[in-house]
Amino acid sequence: MAIDIVALKQRYAAAGQAHLFTFFDTLSSDEQSIFAAQLAALDVERVNSVYAKAVEADAAAAAMASSKAVLGPPPAESTISTSDASGKDAPLEQELRMIGLEAIAQGQVGVLLMAGGQGTRLGSSAPKGCYDIGLPSHKSLFQLQAERIRRLQTLAEKAFSKEEGSVVIPWYIMTSGPTRKPTEEFFKERNHFGLEAKNVIFFEQGTLPCLTLDGKILLDTKSSIATAPDGNGGLYKALRDKLYPGSSETAINSLQTRGIKYLHCYGVDNCLVRVGDPIFLGACIKQGVQVGVKVVTKTDPAESVGVVALRDGKFTVIEYSELPKELAEAKDKNHPQELAFRAANIVNHFYTTSFLALDVPAFEAQMAFHVARKKIPTLDMQTGERIKPTSPNGMKLELFVFDVFPFVGEGGLTVHEVPRQEEFSPLKNAPGTGTDDPQTSRRDLLAQQRRWIEKAGADVRDGAEIELSPLVTYTGEGLDGLKGKSFTESTVVDSI
Ligand code: UTP
Repeated sequence: MAIDIVALKQRYAAAGQAHLFTFFDTLSSDEQSIFAAQLAALDVERVNSVYAKAVEADAAAAAMASSKAVLGPPPAESTISTSDASGKDAPLEQELRMIGLEAIAQGQVGVLLMAGGQGTRLGSSAPKGCYDIGLPSHKSLFQLQAERIRRLQTLAEKAFSKEEGSVVIPWYIMTSGPTRKPTEEFFKERNHFGLEAKNVIFFEQGTLPCLTLDGKILLDTKSSIATAPDGNGGLYKALRDKLYPGSSETAINSLQTRGIKYLHCYGVDNCLVRVGDPIFLGACIKQGVQVGVKVVTKTDPAESVGVVALRDGKFTVIEYSELPKELAEAKDKNHPQELAFRAANIVNHFYTTSFLALDVPAFEAQMAFHVARKKIPTLDMQTGERIKPTSPNGMKLELFVFDVFPFVGEGGLTVHEVPRQEEFSPLKNAPGTGTDDPQTSRRDLLAQQRRWIEKAGADVRDGAEIELSPLVTYTGEGLDGLKGKSFTESTVVDSI
């Protein structure tokens, strides 16, 4: 159906966004049709209200930072720790692992990967999950994750005497406009890394227009507006959107149809991620919570990570810049050798399906988007020339995945502390940066593999790099066959 351009212009004028038509009359008729379709599909009134709310929340957050909001660490009764390296946590781990494996064996667990980020700091043109951190096997992050899922399915089958191949952990992968096509192609070309295609479910988060600092939508070209993914908190809405245009199914429907009760949700860039971690699942299932958050221990008060904490009695993540120095340095009253605010957030969550399907929609409208001031390439509205700004000229609006925390009632959230060296080494920065880059990811994963091998009673000669396939071991189990072996050369262990 033809779009009524006069009505469209009026709608945009009423919304204070008439400038988007500045170059409209200079466009070819094809360009006009494409641009008009983009504008007609955009809910410009929603954009304006999202902007107004975000700016208000931004000002309130700045005021709160200088006011007396009461900040406190997560309560002890909401915290479970399995981070002690001495082995004293082993019985608890085993109890929780069996709870988690049982839920997996019963087909109640899914995993949810957030892979919609553009990975600007890493600077690779492909989605981050396709990245090869330089392991001996040259496996991508996606492949490591897929193989951990396969191994975990096998572990659950064995633990609960299920038939081989009968346990399925469906993998829900959230992509975005820029990452969807290359991600789906990467999986298809590699046969979904041995998983059944029907159990790898792709969906896509939304986008929002980029805005000037006073809320005007920015043009990317004369016939298109500049847009950006709506942040990893776009997850919540995306779960209720159609899986793909024309589909009748949403990710939430799919979860419900499959009888999935529990989800492990994680970010794409942590090469040590324990996808579907049964211990974490067990901790959250045992506590009967709707939401869980896995954390590692912050030991340096100056480390720039967000910490899980309470703000005026509600769970939240406090960014490093928001935490006053005296609180960042404060010690835990019960554990004086540890920081009070030490629960470093690693984008690793647990949810019940019912929380995502029923609770989130009820409070979602109250969640304010965050303002990220950025340098956004756009057009000079006088000349139509392209500008590459050297200082922030606009904003992207994003929700964060942890923005739901304040809405979780008391006792509804578990904080699970795990050892950093076993579980967290993120890939954020370009090669050679020295922190959170491909080299540190590779180093940390190979160091972990060496620990597992040595614990199994084998020996690795200096200089040898041994990589254990995730199909062989999930977290160091099943390595008895290596006992007494001496690895003198670098290799990939694919079977034992
Ligand atoms: P980051 O915030 O580190 O962003 O994402 P990023 O895209 O990986 O990297 P930069 O900031 O552009 O350099 C943390 C997790 O959230 C996902 C990412 O894919 C990653 O798993 N994410 C981020 C989304 O799924 N959607 C988004 O809009 C943003």
